Amino acid sequence: MTIPFGKPMIGDEERAAVLDVMSGPILVHGPRATQFENDFAAWTGSPHAITVSSCTAGMHLVWFTLGIGQGDEVIVPAQTHAATSHTVLLTGATPVFVDSEAETGNINIEAIAAAIGPRTKAIAVVHYLGMPVDMTPVMALAKRHGLFVLEDCALAVGTRLDDIHAGMLGDVGVFSFYPVKHMTTAEGGMIITKHADLAAKLRIKKAFGVDKAMHERKVPGIYDVVDLGYNYRMNEIQAAIGIEQLKKVSNFLDRRAENFAALDAGLRDVEPLQLFRADGGRFKSSHYCFNMMLPESWAARRTDIILKLNARGIGTSVHYPGPVPQMSYYREKFGHKPSDHPVAGWISTCSIALPVGPHLNRNDMSRIVDAVKTVINEVSK
Ligand SMILES: Cc1ncc(COP(=O)(O)O)c(C=O)c1O
Repeated sequence: MTIPFGKPMIGDEERAAVLDVMSGPILVHGPRATQFENDFAAWTGSPHAITVSSCTAGMHLVWFTLGIGQGDEVIVPAQTHAATSHTVLLTGATPVFVDSEAETGNINIEAIAAAIGPRTKAIAVVHYLGMPVDMTPVMALAKRHGLFVLEDCALAVGTRLDDIHAGMLGDVGVFSFYPVKHMTTAEGGMIITKHADLAAKLRIKKAFGVDKAMHERKVPGIYDVVDLGYNYRMNEIQAAIGIEQLKKVSNFLDRRAENFAALDAGLRDVEPLQLFRADGGRFKSSHYCFNMMLPESWAARRTDIILKLNARGIGTSVHYPGPVPQMSYYREKFGHKPSDHPVAGWISTCSIALPVGPHLNRNDMSRIVDAVKTVINEVSK
């Protein structure tokens, strides 16, 4: 692809930082993970940030730490990555899937209200493609029913609602630093929360339930195990990359916003495309990618359109390729029908995700707009 869908933005600074770690004796439990946590906390305006080995690990750790398990239900969007739902299921709890709203692809808030029952313990929201969920009504619902709210911020570095960073709107936010995300640590994740007591528990449970981190041990090798826990730590090499990436991320986000605006302007009036609402006002997106939506009647033409764009060198993706309840494992386990989550289904069958990452410029966006117009014209015939 001459215009790849995503590309990690690794520069000399990241390479030097990695070599620096490799030249020293500390690969895990070191100062870089702490520094990355402090830097990320400052950047997001969060009092507590905890590095983890991935967003999936972070979400699992949160549910596990809350004691969510068998007999409990957690509300999750049908339109998301399997990780959001898997992490609930891994605890023994049941994910209750809620459909999307057609304007943004985010979870339908009225449908959340309808899905709350006596076993509901928590709500997971996903800021779909970086557009913030309107957390005000979500938090009001949660308060009324005494529910915990996790924000899956895998695509939400830079997402803000009312100028508050995603992850600080609910009880906890979990980020992903997978290679094509807004910033990367190769694999990796971060949890942010305003709750000091939860942060302390997460720190212990992410590292075997051990009471003292390495630097807190007065006698080397002596510690107690005070809790049940995993090994979900981030290592120093990852943290060193993350520190450098965070210095660049505002610039990356500006470029994403510019590229997104160029696609939005170029494609908004192209028939029969349907576009999601652009951000503005209270809503600031992180612009993960640009979803162009085909009408339902064009579903069968999507593959053709994708392949024609790819043949012109334009990388594409689909977010996400099925509503989670329609993925084989979930369909067989829970027996949901496509008609249970029709908007999520429309997004999975009729969307094409176009790239807007910081590896691309204005010219690339013009090429994408021209190619989309040509291909749509070709398949309309
Ligand atoms: C919404 C969402 N949640 C979670 C994840 C999983 O993130 P990670 O690969 O860091 O575990 C992804 C991955 O793309 C995602 O899109």
